[in-house]
Amino acid sequence: MSEKSDTATLKIDGQTIELPIVTGSEGDRAVDIANLRARTGCVTLDPSFMNTAACYSRITYIDGEKGILRYRGIPIEELVTKVRFVEVAYLLVHGELPNEEQRRNFSALLNRHSLLHEDMRHFFDHFPQGAHPMHILSTMINALAAFYPNVDLKSLDADVELSCARLISIVRTMAAFAYKKSIGEPVVYPRHDLSYCANFLNMMFDSPIQPYQIHHDAVRILNVLFILHADHEQNCSTTAVRTIGSAQVNLYATISAGISALSGPLHGGANQAVIEMLRMIQEDGDVDKFIRMAKDKNNSFRLMGFGHRVYKTYDPRAAIIKRECDAYLKRIKYHDPLLDVARRIEETALTDPYFVDRHLYPNVDFYTGILYRALGIPENMFTVMFALARLPGWIAHWKEMAGAGTKIVRPRQIYIGKTEEETSGVMANREPQLLW
Ligand code: CMC
Repeated sequence: MSEKSDTATLKIDGQTIELPIVTGSEGDRAVDIANLRARTGCVTLDPSFMNTAACYSRITYIDGEKGILRYRGIPIEELVTKVRFVEVAYLLVHGELPNEEQRRNFSALLNRHSLLHEDMRHFFDHFPQGAHPMHILSTMINALAAFYPNVDLKSLDADVELSCARLISIVRTMAAFAYKKSIGEPVVYPRHDLSYCANFLNMMFDSPIQPYQIHHDAVRILNVLFILHADHEQNCSTTAVRTIGSAQVNLYATISAGISALSGPLHGGANQAVIEMLRMIQEDGDVDKFIRMAKDKNNSFRLMGFGHRVYKTYDPRAAIIKRECDAYLKRIKYHDPLLDVARRIEETALTDPYFVDRHLYPNVDFYTGILYRALGIPENMFTVMFALARLPGWIAHWKEMAGAGTKIVRPRQIYIGKTEEETSGVMANREPQLLW
């Protein structure tokens, strides 16, 4: 029996009210304020939701103090060694790891729906040269609703497995097509005989003049990276998905919003920003100067790939990626000078009181880009890779949100603009407009 109280007492305007404290399965506690406004006339104020749990969820558990990340109760450390990304996608979307038959059926479903509608292929021709693939991807995903209209929440019940599988499969095809278009090469179609990650690498790198050799090691690394990015509970893009989805927008438009949110440099866009930063520091040669800049409050420069809203210790995903990065580069005998710079930054930052006191450690994005470079993935595709991996997480949250009968998300605000008295007289000399 817990000694902790199960109510909180709030005194407001001379009135005392009891608010229930709810506890999650791992001991997280929250004051339930769902009836606060009805009982007191007050709302809570929490910009950027630093202290707000927006929902109950069974999908992902994070302990930011201890550096723990589990999907459906299973630690990521076990998932990366024992299963493939497709099984993790199934785990997130369906709640359990698939048995052998479910795995085969799910893979077959992914294979069957990997082809893009041929008419959509022509869309790629009309984006300007140099368009960022994240912009192309979010636009294309949105357009899917026009081709596969039965993805609204009401018609979804019978179709949910198919729609989710189509999305997980087709997004990979779109991403590879966007890349091929950007380099002016013919697109490569998906193949039924290849696994999810092998198929993606093949669509990216196979060409009519040089067939792509699929290396088991590269496929394994991609699986690891995708698994580690597959979900991260209520992050910015997932919150966008849950918020937009709560208006009963169709699945594709909802996911497109998630992709847009992910593209920002403070979120998924950080993996590209890290490499750009490492290159800049390498060219300059003075690591300490950039550490000083990151600490300077008058300088907007930040160490990209460092810090996290939830983790106040080493991000467990970054720990695995760093290990995999060292081992993979050694195995393929590839020396990346940017890895040397990254190591120097980490060593310096982790002993500097500025970073230590603020609990700023490398996050998932710090070493990811170096691994993607070693796989041959171009920099402007890094955030697209994040989006492919995060898709099962977004879908799982969308399903959970819809299944829980979530009301439309609609926060309140505290208005601090002009009052009516302050604007009195502003309209006095204006005649009513009869003709517009
Ligand atoms: N470099 C230098 N100082 C930093 C950094 C950094 N990367 N991150 C945080 N700080 C400082 C910040 O200036 C503040 O200092 P003070 O208390 O003196 O004002 C303190 O640490 C707390 O930072 P915050 O901005 O209030 O923390 P937050 O929780 O709002 O932001 C973050 C989290 C991830 C946006 C931020 O750490 C950041 O901008 N990091 C760099 C971008 C990045 O790597 N993003 C990827 C995040 S992980 C993957 C994902 O979410 O997609």
